Amino acid sequence: MKQDDPSKNHKIDDFSQLATQSIHSGENLSTSAPPIYQAVTVDGVYLRSGNPTIDALETRITALEGGTSSIATSSGTSAISQTLTALLSAGDRIVCHKTIYAWTKVILDSYLAKFGVEVTYIDMRDLDQLRLALEMPTRLVYFEPITNPTVDVIDTEAVARITKRSEAIVVVDNTYLTPYHLKPFNWGIDIVIHSATKYLCGHGDALAGLIVCRTSEFAERIAHVRNAYGGVLSPQNAFLTLRGIKTLPLRMKQHAANAQQVAEYLEKHPKVSQVNYPGLKSNLGYKVAKRMIINGFGGMINFGLINPAEQERFLKRVQLCKPWVSLGDTQSLVTAGNLGGLIPGGYDRIRMSVGLESIDDIIADLKLALGN
Ligand SMILES: Cc1ncc(COP(=O)(O)O)c(C=O)c1O
Repeated sequence: MKQDDPSKNHKIDDFSQLATQSIHSGENLSTSAPPIYQAVTVDGVYLRSGNPTIDALETRITALEGGTSSIATSSGTSAISQTLTALLSAGDRIVCHKTIYAWTKVILDSYLAKFGVEVTYIDMRDLDQLRLALEMPTRLVYFEPITNPTVDVIDTEAVARITKRSEAIVVVDNTYLTPYHLKPFNWGIDIVIHSATKYLCGHGDALAGLIVCRTSEFAERIAHVRNAYGGVLSPQNAFLTLRGIKTLPLRMKQHAANAQQVAEYLEKHPKVSQVNYPGLKSNLGYKVAKRMIINGFGGMINFGLINPAEQERFLKRVQLCKPWVSLGDTQSLVTAGNLGGLIPGGYDRIRMSVGLESIDDIIADLKLALGN
């Protein structure tokens, strides 16, 4: 955990610095790549409290998001559970968008519930539902600005503004968009979480989580939980994530450009029933997305087939796109069904993480798999 300049006034044009920050923030000027400090104790500091390779990653994500301080963790779920553990007590209530990453829901419903934390799920796209929910005492509001797996668009600015009239703090999971597309602190969010396993690392070779805080007070409380619970990032994975982030803006630009073309292709396909992608004018959240997201609309698409029974065949027929879980890798990934049993009652949609392959090859693969 390292302090950055907390007095920054975050503006939309911070995005112009992203390419340089992605490469230089947190790096030691005397080496061409950050050294991997594998030692459990460095200069008297034990690894659960800090480590120079991990510190470099924390400094970089703090700069990219425009926060005050960050904490790196062993995974995205570890980042989420440590944040919630630090901020919630028995009797507290969370208001949450009804669709969130499935294992986040497990943390809330199966584990925090055990310790007396209450969760109210609402459709946060309907701001009246949020206003109503906040009439009851609420400690924390939680959502993903673009949701996994449904690709709902949540009006981050409006949710933060409305929540600020209450005592609650706002925590978002910015995994889908990354600071290339959205800087939640610009809109008044208190804590930004990432599964860095996804776009930030970007190559499908390291599990990592990051928590970026608006204030050092939040960061200290969360760092204390990390020290107690031990969900610490390995220095090797901190190195891989630092390396991945160097090309984040270039990769995200191409993910978004490819995803836009794939979404437009799918929308016209006779076997596809409906496509959710924030960059499509037909999308329910298009107007909000246009106001909130910059540099394109991300790389994640959700779509349905007119005949859902053909999903299995689609997943068997893709060749270039891999039918694997995870997202944000260089390769295109598709998943369908109920995501490993996590979505009750099944889920007849396909989630696609559009990769960096040639757009013609991606579309040719989809065409083949859709059987047209
Ligand atoms: C939006 C989102 N948040 C959190 C996670 C959890 O991340 P990790 O797999 O690094 O624990 C995921 C993983 O898919 C995710 O998609």
